[in-house]
Amino acid sequence: MIKGIILIGGPMKGTRFRPLSLELPKPLFPVAGFPMIYHHIEACSKVPDLKEVLLIGFYQPNAALNHFIMEVHQEFKLQVRYFQEYQALGTAGGLYHFRDQILAGNPEAFFVMNADVCGDFPLNEMLEFHRKTGNGDTHTMLGTEATQQQSLNYGCIVENKDTHEVVHYVEKPGSYVSSIINCGTYLFSPDIMKYLAAAFQKNQENFCTDSIESSLSPSTKECIFLESEIFMDLASTGKLFVYQTTNFWSQVKSAGATIYANRHYLAIYHRTHPDRLAKNGEGKPTIIGDVYIHPSASVHESATLGPNVTVGKNVVIGEGVRVRESLVLEGSTILDHTLILYSIIGWNSVVGSWSRVEGTPNDPNPNKPFAKLEVSDLFNSEGKLNPSITVIGSNVQIPSEVVILNSLVLPHKDLGRSYKNQIIL
Ligand code: GDD
Ligand code: GTP
Repeated sequence: MIKGIILIGGPMKGTRFRPLSLELPKPLFPVAGFPMIYHHIEACSKVPDLKEVLLIGFYQPNAALNHFIMEVHQEFKLQVRYFQEYQALGTAGGLYHFRDQILAGNPEAFFVMNADVCGDFPLNEMLEFHRKTGNGDTHTMLGTEATQQQSLNYGCIVENKDTHEVVHYVEKPGSYVSSIINCGTYLFSPDIMKYLAAAFQKNQENFCTDSIESSLSPSTKECIFLESEIFMDLASTGKLFVYQTTNFWSQVKSAGATIYANRHYLAIYHRTHPDRLAKNGEGKPTIIGDVYIHPSASVHESATLGPNVTVGKNVVIGEGVRVRESLVLEGSTILDHTLILYSIIGWNSVVGSWSRVEGTPNDPNPNKPFAKLEVSDLFNSEGKLNPSITVIGSNVQIPSEVVILNSLVLPHKDLGRSYKNQIIL
Protein backbone atom coordinates (compact mmCIF):
# COMPACT_ATOMS: atom_id res chain seq x y z
CA MET A 1 0.00 0.00 0.00
CA ILE A 2 1.13 3.55 -0.78
CA LYS A 3 -0.16 6.74 0.88
CA GLY A 4 -0.19 10.37 -0.18
CA ILE A 5 0.49 13.30 2.15
CA ILE A 6 0.05 16.93 1.25
CA LEU A 7 1.67 19.65 3.36
CA ILE A 8 -0.88 22.43 3.24
CA GLY A 9 0.74 24.90 5.66
CA GLY A 10 -1.49 27.29 7.56
CA PRO A 11 -2.85 30.79 7.98
CA MET A 12 0.55 32.41 8.45
CA LYS A 13 1.65 31.02 5.10
CA GLY A 14 0.55 32.27 1.71
CA THR A 15 1.01 35.93 2.65
CA ARG A 16 2.30 36.79 -0.81
CA PHE A 17 -0.94 35.42 -2.09
CA ARG A 18 -3.08 38.10 -0.51
CA PRO A 19 -5.74 39.33 -1.02
CA LEU A 20 -6.84 36.01 -2.50
CA SER A 21 -5.83 33.98 0.55
CA LEU A 22 -7.86 36.27 2.85
CA GLU A 23 -11.04 34.46 1.87
CA LEU A 24 -9.96 30.89 1.38
CA PRO A 25 -6.97 28.78 2.46
CA LYS A 26 -4.47 29.14 -0.37
CA PRO A 27 -4.34 25.37 -1.09
CA LEU A 28 -8.03 25.57 -2.01
CA PHE A 29 -7.61 28.41 -4.48
CA PRO A 30 -9.06 27.26 -7.81
CA VAL A 31 -6.76 26.81 -10.77
CA ALA A 32 -8.18 25.53 -14.07
CA GLY A 33 -11.54 25.15 -12.35
CA PHE A 34 -10.38 23.05 -9.37
CA PRO A 35 -8.69 23.75 -6.04
CA MET A 36 -4.90 23.75 -6.19
CA ILE A 37 -4.56 20.54 -4.14
CA TYR A 38 -7.33 18.83 -6.12
CA HIS A 39 -4.69 18.41 -8.83
CA HIS A 40 -2.32 16.76 -6.32
CA ILE A 41 -5.06 14.41 -5.14
CA GLU A 42 -6.01 13.56 -8.70
CA ALA A 43 -2.35 12.66 -9.39
CA CYS A 44 -2.38 10.46 -6.25
CA SER A 45 -5.55 8.73 -7.42
CA LYS A 46 -3.71 7.52 -10.53
CA VAL A 47 -1.23 5.51 -8.43
CA PRO A 48 -2.72 2.00 -8.36
CA ASP A 49 -1.92 1.12 -4.73
CA LEU A 50 -2.74 4.52 -3.27
CA LYS A 51 -6.00 4.59 -1.33
CA GLU A 52 -5.44 7.18 1.35
CA VAL A 53 -4.45 10.85 1.34
CA LEU A 54 -3.57 12.81 4.48
CA LEU A 55 -3.58 16.59 4.48
CA ILE A 56 -1.29 18.01 7.16
CA GLY A 57 -1.40 21.66 8.10
CA PHE A 58 -2.16 24.16 10.84
CA TYR A 59 -5.39 25.67 9.57
CA GLN A 60 -8.32 25.43 11.95
CA PRO A 61 -10.71 22.91 10.42
CA ASN A 62 -13.17 24.98 8.38
CA ALA A 63 -16.23 24.53 6.22
CA ALA A 64 -14.36 25.02 2.93
CA LEU A 65 -11.78 22.37 3.82
CA ASN A 66 -14.42 19.91 5.06
CA HIS A 67 -16.47 20.39 1.93
CA PHE A 68 -13.43 19.89 -0.28
CA ILE A 69 -12.48 16.68 1.56
CA MET A 70 -15.97 15.30 1.13
CA GLU A 71 -15.97 16.10 -2.59
CA VAL A 72 -12.61 14.55 -3.41
CA HIS A 73 -13.45 11.51 -1.30
CA GLN A 74 -16.56 10.96 -3.40
CA GLU A 75 -14.93 11.68 -6.72
CA PHE A 76 -11.74 9.66 -6.35
CA LYS A 77 -12.94 7.01 -3.89
CA LEU A 78 -9.93 7.76 -1.71
CA GLN A 79 -9.91 8.14 2.03
CA VAL A 80 -8.94 11.79 2.58
CA ARG A 81 -8.35 13.13 6.08
CA TYR A 82 -7.06 16.35 7.57
CA PHE A 83 -4.58 16.35 10.46
CA GLN A 84 -4.06 19.64 12.20
CA GLU A 85 -0.74 20.54 13.76
CA TYR A 86 -1.23 22.37 17.07
CA GLN A 87 1.29 24.93 15.78
CA ALA A 88 3.46 25.21 12.65
CA LEU A 89 5.78 22.22 12.95
CA GLY A 90 7.84 22.78 9.79
CA THR A 91 7.88 20.61 6.69
CA ALA A 92 8.84 17.46 8.64
CA GLY A 93 7.47 18.14 12.14
CA GLY A 94 3.93 17.19 11.12
CA LEU A 95 5.14 14.00 9.47
CA TYR A 96 6.79 13.00 12.74
CA HIS A 97 3.90 14.12 14.93
CA PHE A 98 1.38 12.10 12.91
CA ARG A 99 3.71 9.13 12.32
CA ASP A 100 1.27 6.60 13.78
CA GLN A 101 -1.46 7.64 11.36
CA ILE A 102 0.99 7.70 8.45
CA LEU A 103 2.43 4.27 9.22
CA ALA A 104 -0.94 2.67 10.09
CA GLY A 105 -1.53 -0.30 7.79
CA ASN A 106 2.21 -0.64 7.04
CA PRO A 107 2.51 1.32 3.80
CA GLU A 108 5.37 0.33 1.54
CA ALA A 109 6.10 4.04 0.96
CA PHE A 110 4.33 7.41 1.07
CA PHE A 111 4.40 10.47 -1.16
CA VAL A 112 4.81 13.87 0.46
CA MET A 113 3.87 16.87 -1.67
CA ASN A 114 4.11 20.60 -1.00
CA ALA A 115 0.72 22.15 -1.63
CA ASP A 116 2.12 25.30 -3.21
CA VAL A 117 3.48 23.68 -6.34
CA CYS A 118 1.70 22.67 -9.49
CA GLY A 119 2.72 20.33 -12.21
CA ASP A 120 2.22 17.23 -14.25
CA PHE A 121 3.31 15.07 -11.30
CA PRO A 122 4.98 11.85 -12.50
CA LEU A 123 4.07 9.84 -9.39
CA ASN A 124 3.89 6.44 -11.06
CA GLU A 125 7.26 7.00 -12.70
CA MET A 126 8.71 8.04 -9.32
CA LEU A 127 7.35 4.88 -7.72
CA GLU A 128 8.84 2.70 -10.44
CA PHE A 129 12.20 4.47 -10.07
CA HIS A 130 12.00 4.18 -6.27
CA ARG A 131 11.41 0.42 -6.45
CA LYS A 132 14.26 0.00 -8.90
CA THR A 133 16.87 2.03 -6.99
CA GLY A 134 16.30 0.81 -3.44
CA ASN A 135 15.50 -2.17 -1.27
CA GLY A 136 12.65 -0.63 0.63
CA ASP A 137 14.62 1.72 2.84
CA THR A 138 15.56 4.48 0.40
CA HIS A 139 13.88 7.80 -0.40
CA THR A 140 13.25 9.55 -3.69
CA MET A 141 12.86 13.25 -4.37
CA LEU A 142 11.49 14.79 -7.54
CA GLY A 143 13.94 17.14 -9.24
CA THR A 144 13.80 19.37 -12.28
CA GLU A 145 16.21 21.67 -14.01
CA ALA A 146 16.20 25.45 -13.45
CA THR A 147 18.50 28.21 -14.68
CA GLN A 148 21.64 28.73 -12.61
CA GLN A 149 20.37 32.07 -11.32
CA GLN A 150 16.93 30.78 -10.39
CA SER A 151 18.23 27.62 -8.73
CA LEU A 152 19.32 29.79 -5.77
CA ASN A 153 15.67 30.19 -4.75
CA TYR A 154 15.13 26.46 -4.36
CA GLY A 155 16.65 23.41 -2.73
CA CYS A 156 19.58 22.36 -4.92
CA ILE A 157 20.52 18.76 -5.58
CA VAL A 158 23.85 17.34 -6.71
CA GLU A 159 23.47 13.79 -8.00
CA ASN A 160 25.73 10.96 -9.01
CA LYS A 161 24.85 10.89 -12.71
CA ASP A 162 25.16 7.10 -12.97
CA THR A 163 23.20 6.03 -9.91
CA HIS A 164 21.04 9.16 -9.36
CA GLU A 165 22.01 9.11 -5.72
CA VAL A 166 21.85 12.53 -4.07
CA VAL A 167 25.43 13.24 -3.02
CA HIS A 168 24.93 16.81 -1.86
CA TYR A 169 21.89 18.92 -0.96
CA VAL A 170 21.77 22.63 -0.12
CA GLU A 171 18.61 24.57 0.62
CA LYS A 172 18.44 27.95 -1.17
CA PRO A 173 22.23 28.34 -1.48
CA GLY A 174 23.95 31.72 -1.55
CA SER A 175 25.93 30.81 -4.65
CA TYR A 176 25.49 28.31 -7.45
CA VAL A 177 25.56 24.63 -6.45
CA SER A 178 23.49 22.76 -9.02
CA SER A 179 20.72 23.55 -11.46
CA ILE A 180 18.70 20.49 -10.42
CA ILE A 181 16.15 21.80 -7.98
CA ASN A 182 13.89 20.20 -5.41
CA CYS A 183 10.27 20.12 -6.63
CA GLY A 184 8.80 19.66 -3.14
CA THR A 185 7.53 16.18 -4.01
CA TYR A 186 9.01 13.12 -2.33
CA LEU A 187 8.50 9.40 -1.99
CA PHE A 188 9.66 8.18 1.43
CA SER A 189 9.90 4.67 2.76
CA PRO A 190 8.83 4.23 6.43
CA ASP A 191 12.54 4.22 7.29
CA ILE A 192 12.46 8.05 7.05
CA MET A 193 10.85 8.15 10.52
CA LYS A 194 14.18 7.08 12.00
CA TYR A 195 15.77 10.28 10.72
CA LEU A 196 12.82 12.40 11.83
CA ALA A 197 13.04 10.87 15.31
CA ALA A 198 16.76 11.66 15.48
CA ALA A 199 16.16 15.27 14.39
CA PHE A 200 13.34 15.59 16.93
CA GLN A 201 15.56 14.24 19.69
CA LYS A 202 18.40 16.57 18.75
CA ASN A 203 16.10 19.59 18.80
CA GLN A 204 14.78 18.60 22.24
CA GLU A 205 18.30 18.35 23.62
CA ASN A 206 19.38 21.65 22.09
CA PHE A 207 16.28 23.18 23.55
CA CYS A 208 17.26 22.11 27.07
CA THR A 209 20.83 23.35 26.84
CA ASP A 210 20.23 26.47 24.82
CA SER A 211 17.80 28.06 27.24
CA ILE A 212 17.85 31.79 26.40
CA GLU A 213 17.15 31.42 22.73
CA SER A 214 14.63 28.66 23.23
CA SER A 215 12.68 30.52 25.87
CA LEU A 216 12.21 33.28 23.31
CA SER A 217 10.77 30.91 20.74
CA PRO A 218 9.26 27.97 22.57
CA SER A 219 7.84 26.56 19.36
CA THR A 220 11.15 25.72 17.73
CA LYS A 221 11.87 22.53 19.63
CA GLU A 222 8.93 20.80 17.98
CA CYS A 223 9.80 22.01 14.47
CA ILE A 224 11.66 19.86 12.01
CA PHE A 225 12.52 20.85 8.46
CA LEU A 226 13.07 18.28 5.76
CA GLU A 227 15.25 20.61 3.76
CA SER A 228 17.72 21.78 6.40
CA GLU A 229 17.67 18.89 8.87
CA ILE A 230 16.95 15.72 6.93
CA PHE A 231 18.09 15.94 3.31
CA MET A 232 21.48 17.42 4.09
CA ASP A 233 22.25 14.50 6.40
CA LEU A 234 20.75 11.88 4.09
CA ALA A 235 22.79 13.06 1.08
CA SER A 236 25.67 10.74 0.18
CA THR A 237 24.56 7.99 2.57
CA GLY A 238 23.22 5.92 -0.34
CA LYS A 239 19.65 6.38 0.93
CA LEU A 240 18.44 9.41 -1.03
CA PHE A 241 17.85 9.46 -4.79
CA VAL A 242 16.56 11.99 -7.27
CA TYR A 243 14.10 11.28 -10.06
CA GLN A 244 14.41 14.06 -12.59
CA THR A 245 11.45 15.21 -14.64
CA THR A 246 11.04 17.41 -17.69
CA ASN A 247 7.28 17.61 -17.16
CA PHE A 248 5.67 20.95 -16.44
CA TRP A 249 6.33 22.06 -12.84
CA SER A 250 6.11 25.41 -11.08
CA GLN A 251 5.86 26.91 -7.62
CA VAL A 252 2.68 28.85 -6.86
CA LYS A 253 3.76 31.57 -4.45
CA SER A 254 2.09 34.67 -5.86
CA ALA A 255 -1.34 35.32 -7.34
CA GLY A 256 0.36 35.86 -10.71
CA ALA A 257 1.63 32.29 -10.61
CA THR A 258 -1.94 30.97 -10.73
CA ILE A 259 -2.41 32.45 -14.21
CA TYR A 260 0.69 30.57 -15.30
CA ALA A 261 -0.42 27.37 -13.53
CA ASN A 262 -3.90 27.75 -15.03
CA ARG A 263 -2.45 27.84 -18.54
CA HIS A 264 -0.47 24.64 -17.98
CA TYR A 265 -3.25 22.71 -16.25
CA LEU A 266 -5.60 23.61 -19.11
CA ALA A 267 -3.00 22.32 -21.59
CA ILE A 268 -2.79 19.05 -19.60
CA TYR A 269 -6.58 18.68 -19.92
CA HIS A 270 -6.09 17.99 -23.64
CA ARG A 271 -4.58 14.68 -22.58
CA THR A 272 -6.42 13.96 -19.32
CA HIS A 273 -9.86 15.64 -19.55
CA PRO A 274 -10.64 16.94 -23.07
CA ASP A 275 -14.28 17.15 -21.94
CA ARG A 276 -13.37 20.00 -19.57
CA LEU A 277 -12.23 22.28 -22.41
CA ALA A 278 -14.85 24.59 -23.92
CA LYS A 279 -15.61 24.18 -27.62
CA ASN A 280 -16.91 26.51 -30.29
CA GLY A 281 -20.41 25.98 -31.59
CA GLU A 282 -23.61 27.65 -32.62
CA GLY A 283 -25.12 29.85 -29.94
CA LYS A 284 -21.94 29.57 -27.88
CA PRO A 285 -19.28 32.18 -27.13
CA THR A 286 -16.18 32.27 -29.32
CA ILE A 287 -13.43 30.18 -27.78
CA ILE A 288 -9.78 30.79 -28.59
CA GLY A 289 -7.29 28.19 -27.33
CA ASP A 290 -7.82 26.53 -23.94
CA VAL A 291 -10.77 27.65 -21.86
CA TYR A 292 -12.59 26.05 -18.93
CA ILE A 293 -16.16 27.18 -18.24
CA HIS A 294 -17.99 25.81 -15.23
CA PRO A 295 -21.29 24.24 -16.37
CA SER A 296 -23.28 26.64 -14.16
CA ALA A 297 -21.71 29.79 -15.68
CA SER A 298 -23.66 31.85 -18.16
CA VAL A 299 -21.59 33.32 -20.98
CA HIS A 300 -23.19 35.43 -23.70
CA GLU A 301 -22.76 34.01 -27.18
CA SER A 302 -21.16 37.24 -28.43
CA ALA A 303 -18.38 37.09 -25.83
CA THR A 304 -14.89 35.89 -26.76
CA LEU A 305 -12.87 33.90 -24.25
CA GLY A 306 -9.32 32.61 -24.37
CA PRO A 307 -6.67 31.60 -24.59
CA ASN A 308 -6.08 30.32 -21.07
CA VAL A 309 -9.20 31.45 -19.30
CA THR A 310 -11.10 29.81 -16.46
CA VAL A 311 -14.66 30.84 -15.70
CA GLY A 312 -15.96 29.69 -12.30
CA LYS A 313 -19.27 28.56 -10.90
CA ASN A 314 -22.31 30.83 -11.45
CA VAL A 315 -20.27 33.49 -13.24
CA VAL A 316 -22.21 35.73 -15.61
CA ILE A 317 -20.44 37.15 -18.65
CA GLY A 318 -22.29 39.70 -20.75
CA GLU A 319 -22.48 40.68 -24.39
CA GLY A 320 -19.27 41.43 -26.28
CA VAL A 321 -17.01 40.75 -23.31
CA ARG A 322 -13.42 39.73 -24.05
CA VAL A 323 -11.47 37.68 -21.50
CA ARG A 324 -7.96 36.47 -22.05
CA GLU A 325 -5.27 34.84 -19.79
CA SER A 326 -7.45 35.33 -16.71
CA LEU A 327 -9.40 33.65 -13.94
CA VAL A 328 -12.95 34.76 -13.23
CA LEU A 329 -13.89 33.29 -9.86
CA GLU A 330 -17.19 31.93 -8.60
CA GLY A 331 -20.16 34.26 -8.49
CA SER A 332 -18.61 37.16 -10.42
CA THR A 333 -20.33 39.18 -13.10
CA ILE A 334 -18.64 40.86 -16.06
CA LEU A 335 -20.99 43.29 -17.71
CA ASP A 336 -21.22 44.01 -21.44
CA HIS A 337 -18.26 44.90 -23.67
CA THR A 338 -15.66 44.79 -20.93
CA LEU A 339 -12.13 43.50 -21.42
CA ILE A 340 -10.32 41.35 -18.85
CA LEU A 341 -6.66 40.64 -19.55
CA TYR A 342 -4.04 38.97 -17.28
CA SER A 343 -6.26 39.43 -14.25
CA ILE A 344 -8.00 37.53 -11.49
CA ILE A 345 -11.53 38.63 -10.73
CA GLY A 346 -12.30 37.61 -7.13
CA TRP A 347 -15.40 35.87 -5.85
CA ASN A 348 -18.74 37.68 -6.24
CA SER A 349 -17.26 40.81 -7.76
CA VAL A 350 -18.96 42.88 -10.42
CA VAL A 351 -17.16 44.62 -13.27
CA GLY A 352 -19.27 47.25 -15.05
CA SER A 353 -19.68 47.58 -18.80
CA TRP A 354 -17.17 49.06 -21.26
CA SER A 355 -14.41 48.79 -18.65
CA ARG A 356 -10.92 47.41 -18.96
CA VAL A 357 -9.20 45.36 -16.26
CA GLU A 358 -5.66 44.59 -17.25
CA GLY A 359 -2.46 43.26 -15.71
CA THR A 360 1.09 42.53 -16.81
CA PRO A 361 2.32 38.97 -16.83
CA ASN A 362 5.78 38.02 -15.60
CA ASP A 363 6.14 34.76 -17.44
CA PRO A 364 9.43 32.87 -17.53
CA ASN A 365 11.77 34.00 -20.29
CA PRO A 366 10.83 31.74 -23.24
CA ASN A 367 14.33 32.08 -24.69
CA LYS A 368 15.97 30.55 -21.63
CA PRO A 369 15.58 26.81 -21.43
CA PHE A 370 14.45 25.62 -17.98
CA ALA A 371 13.51 29.15 -16.84
CA LYS A 372 10.97 29.16 -14.02
CA LEU A 373 8.49 31.80 -13.01
CA GLU A 374 10.17 34.65 -11.11
CA VAL A 375 8.67 35.63 -7.80
CA SER A 376 9.25 39.35 -8.01
CA ASP A 377 8.85 41.73 -5.09
CA LEU A 378 5.68 43.74 -4.84
CA PHE A 379 7.63 47.01 -4.91
CA ASN A 380 10.74 48.03 -6.84
CA SER A 381 13.77 49.78 -5.33
CA GLU A 382 12.09 53.18 -5.77
CA GLY A 383 9.12 52.05 -3.73
CA LYS A 384 6.85 51.80 -6.76
CA LEU A 385 4.56 48.85 -7.37
CA ASN A 386 6.12 46.45 -9.87
CA PRO A 387 3.80 45.82 -12.83
CA SER A 388 1.97 42.56 -12.15
CA ILE A 389 -1.26 40.87 -12.94
CA THR A 390 -4.33 42.71 -11.68
CA VAL A 391 -6.02 41.02 -8.75
CA ILE A 392 -9.52 42.02 -7.77
CA GLY A 393 -10.44 40.76 -4.29
CA SER A 394 -13.84 39.31 -3.50
CA ASN A 395 -17.07 41.37 -3.45
CA VAL A 396 -15.52 44.33 -5.28
CA GLN A 397 -17.63 46.63 -7.44
CA ILE A 398 -15.91 48.15 -10.48
CA PRO A 399 -17.95 50.78 -12.27
CA SER A 400 -18.53 51.07 -16.01
CA GLU A 401 -16.09 52.77 -18.36
CA VAL A 402 -12.98 52.68 -16.17
CA VAL A 403 -9.53 51.19 -16.60
CA ILE A 404 -7.92 49.19 -13.77
CA LEU A 405 -4.31 48.53 -14.68
CA ASN A 406 -1.62 46.50 -12.79
CA SER A 407 -3.45 46.95 -9.50
CA LEU A 408 -4.36 44.94 -6.42
CA VAL A 409 -7.82 45.62 -5.05
CA LEU A 410 -8.66 44.39 -1.57
CA PRO A 411 -12.03 42.73 -0.88
CA HIS A 412 -15.29 44.68 -0.43
CA LYS A 413 -14.14 47.82 -2.26
CA ASP A 414 -16.51 49.93 -4.25
CA LEU A 415 -14.29 51.69 -6.78
CA GLY A 416 -15.36 55.03 -8.15
CA ARG A 417 -12.80 55.66 -10.90
CA SER A 418 -9.86 54.29 -12.88
CA TYR A 419 -6.67 53.11 -11.15
CA LYS A 420 -3.22 52.39 -12.45
CA ASN A 421 -0.33 50.67 -10.56
CA GLN A 422 -1.98 50.89 -7.17
CA ILE A 423 -2.90 48.81 -4.20
CA ILE A 424 -6.41 49.77 -3.25
CA LEU A 425 -6.77 49.15 0.47
N1 GDD B 1 1.93 21.16 7.65
C1 GDD B 1 2.84 22.10 7.50
N2 GDD B 1 3.40 22.66 8.60
N3 GDD B 1 3.16 22.48 6.26
C2 GDD B 1 4.11 23.43 6.13
C3 GDD B 1 4.75 24.07 7.21
C4 GDD B 1 4.35 23.64 8.53
O1 GDD B 1 4.82 24.13 9.55
N4 GDD B 1 5.62 24.97 6.74
C5 GDD B 1 5.54 24.90 5.41
N5 GDD B 1 4.62 23.98 5.03
C6 GDD B 1 4.23 23.60 3.68
C7 GDD B 1 3.81 24.78 2.84
O2 GDD B 1 2.41 24.92 2.83
C8 GDD B 1 4.30 24.38 1.47
O3 GDD B 1 3.35 23.57 0.81
C9 GDD B 1 5.53 23.55 1.74
O4 GDD B 1 5.39 23.09 3.07
C10 GDD B 1 6.88 24.26 1.55
O5 GDD B 1 6.79 25.53 2.09
P1 GDD B 1 7.94 26.57 2.41
O6 GDD B 1 8.42 26.35 3.78
O7 GDD B 1 7.36 27.89 2.04
O8 GDD B 1 9.17 26.22 1.46
P2 GDD B 1 9.50 26.79 0.00
O9 GDD B 1 8.30 26.62 -0.85
O10 GDD B 1 10.15 28.12 0.07
O11 GDD B 1 10.62 25.75 -0.49
C11 GDD B 1 10.33 24.38 -0.55
O12 GDD B 1 9.74 24.03 -1.79
C12 GDD B 1 10.57 24.25 -2.94
C13 GDD B 1 9.79 23.77 -4.15
O13 GDD B 1 8.64 24.51 -4.33
C14 GDD B 1 11.64 23.64 -0.36
O14 GDD B 1 11.33 22.28 -0.18
C15 GDD B 1 12.58 23.83 -1.53
O15 GDD B 1 13.71 23.00 -1.39
C16 GDD B 1 11.87 23.47 -2.82
O16 GDD B 1 12.73 23.74 -3.91
P1 GTP C 1 -4.13 40.11 -30.72
O1 GTP C 1 -4.50 40.45 -32.10
O2 GTP C 1 -4.62 38.77 -30.26
O3 GTP C 1 -2.68 40.32 -30.42
O4 GTP C 1 -4.93 41.14 -29.78
P2 GTP C 1 -5.16 42.69 -30.11
O5 GTP C 1 -3.86 43.35 -30.39
O6 GTP C 1 -6.21 42.81 -31.13
O7 GTP C 1 -5.76 43.36 -28.78
P3 GTP C 1 -5.69 42.93 -27.25
O8 GTP C 1 -4.74 41.82 -27.04
O9 GTP C 1 -5.50 44.16 -26.41
O10 GTP C 1 -7.18 42.47 -27.03
C1 GTP C 1 -7.68 41.26 -27.48
C2 GTP C 1 -9.07 41.43 -28.05
O11 GTP C 1 -9.92 42.16 -27.19
C3 GTP C 1 -9.09 42.14 -29.39
O12 GTP C 1 -9.93 41.39 -30.24
C4 GTP C 1 -9.70 43.50 -29.11
O13 GTP C 1 -10.54 43.92 -30.15
C5 GTP C 1 -10.54 43.23 -27.89
N1 GTP C 1 -10.55 44.41 -27.02
C6 GTP C 1 -9.52 45.24 -26.71
N2 GTP C 1 -9.90 46.21 -25.87
C7 GTP C 1 -11.22 46.01 -25.62
C8 GTP C 1 -12.19 46.66 -24.80
O14 GTP C 1 -11.93 47.67 -24.11
N3 GTP C 1 -13.46 46.12 -24.78
C9 GTP C 1 -13.78 45.02 -25.49
N4 GTP C 1 -15.02 44.52 -25.43
N5 GTP C 1 -12.88 44.37 -26.28
C10 GTP C 1 -11.64 44.85 -26.35
